[in-house]
Amino acid sequence: MTELILGQVLTYSGDPFAEGISAARVLTQGAVAIEAGRIAAVGEAADLRSRFPMARVHDHGSRLVSAGFIDAHVHYPQTAIIASWGKRLIDWLNTYTFPEEMRFRDPAYAAEIANRYLDLVLARGTTTVCTYATIHPSSVDAIFTAAQARGMRLFAGKTCMDRNAPPGLRDTAQSAYDDSKRLLETWHGQDRLSYVITPRFSPTSTPEQLHALGSLWREFPDCLMQTHLSEQLDEIAWVRDLFPQSRDYLDTYEAQGLLREGAVYGHAIHLTDRERSRLVEAGASLVHCPTSNTFIGSGLFDMTLAARLRVGLATDTGGGSSFSMLHTMAAAYEIAQLRGQSLHPAQLWWLATQGSARALRCEDRIGNLTPGMEADLIVIDLASTPAIEQATRRATDLWQQLFPTIMMGDDRAVTEVWVGGKRLAN
Ligand code: GUN
Ligand code: ZN
Repeated sequence: MTELILGQVLTYSGDPFAEGISAARVLTQGAVAIEAGRIAAVGEAADLRSRFPMARVHDHGSRLVSAGFIDAHVHYPQTAIIASWGKRLIDWLNTYTFPEEMRFRDPAYAAEIANRYLDLVLARGTTTVCTYATIHPSSVDAIFTAAQARGMRLFAGKTCMDRNAPPGLRDTAQSAYDDSKRLLETWHGQDRLSYVITPRFSPTSTPEQLHALGSLWREFPDCLMQTHLSEQLDEIAWVRDLFPQSRDYLDTYEAQGLLREGAVYGHAIHLTDRERSRLVEAGASLVHCPTSNTFIGSGLFDMTLAARLRVGLATDTGGGSSFSMLHTMAAAYEIAQLRGQSLHPAQLWWLATQGSARALRCEDRIGNLTPGMEADLIVIDLASTPAIEQATRRATDLWQQLFPTIMMGDDRAVTEVWVGGKRLAN
């Protein structure tokens, strides 16, 4: 059965940071045809109606049809502690995060949160996430099982920590290697699931553990590796004390084989010139987590880096203050404004779709609407509340129509979500 989704269809022919806004294409009366879980065609509604006369038609009028959102850095185990008050990074980890992550030794709790988390993000139009689990291998099983049941493309890895974490939340260099390898061999490439090698960050890993995970990455070079980099100044000073031999924070990873294409660093706010040029040379990815960076008080990401390397966008649940990629785009806009840059709605939307897909090196599969790609789609109501509707009344193009939804929209704007060519019940 062919499904034909009609609406204002937004696609990208390239990167709007490199090529300008004309890289975004809008078909005002467009259509997307879906067959066997993939996009069969994208074009004018009238053309596709005649090309697929037997298709089941879903006519969304002037609503926006887009690729689903991709959230490139989250901690699903922090779902229940989102919006916890009054701490900065290291205190926030010790006070809220570690006690909550301890609860994931219970596989039933991990399964409950994994399912709750995926339902929350799908309702907000996020069809793929790249998540940290906890140190417990069963927390990885829980999120992959929940994603598999929903047919989602999802990235996840066991968080590794062998120091500076409470007892009960520490592994060792050897057990981190063994558990990660076993999980990778079990899950990586199953359906739409990908394993990600996941040292939490240098303060909670010994050089021996980073080295062991670097060795594992050499054995499985097509995996991603995710970690945190230069989020807060106190954290950077701590890294300097813990790694006196290292040139800088990035070097703590680089020295252990954890810097190359496929490395995905969250935050990366306070970088030195050497770190910036090494990241570019190595072809690494950065992930901007704007609501987290204001909520935990970390700093202002430099979005001009998007012209030089792969930058994705993320909520960083639960350091971030929202599950919504709309809200996250709004925060990215505001942070860029504070740095003197006005991001165009076409750039913001691209970051939340293709930008994140490129950061996760899956841009040939998801994050855009082109024939052959996997059919993860969302339908967005551009007048989902009275406040948004009145702000769009004088709009003369899609961008003016879309920007109030970016700045003020929430789950009410997301009217339909398709995952792997199947429409979710709403
Ligand atoms: N750095 C190390 N772990 C974390 C985490 O869980 N959240 C954030 N925001 N930063 C981190
Ligand atoms: Zn994080």
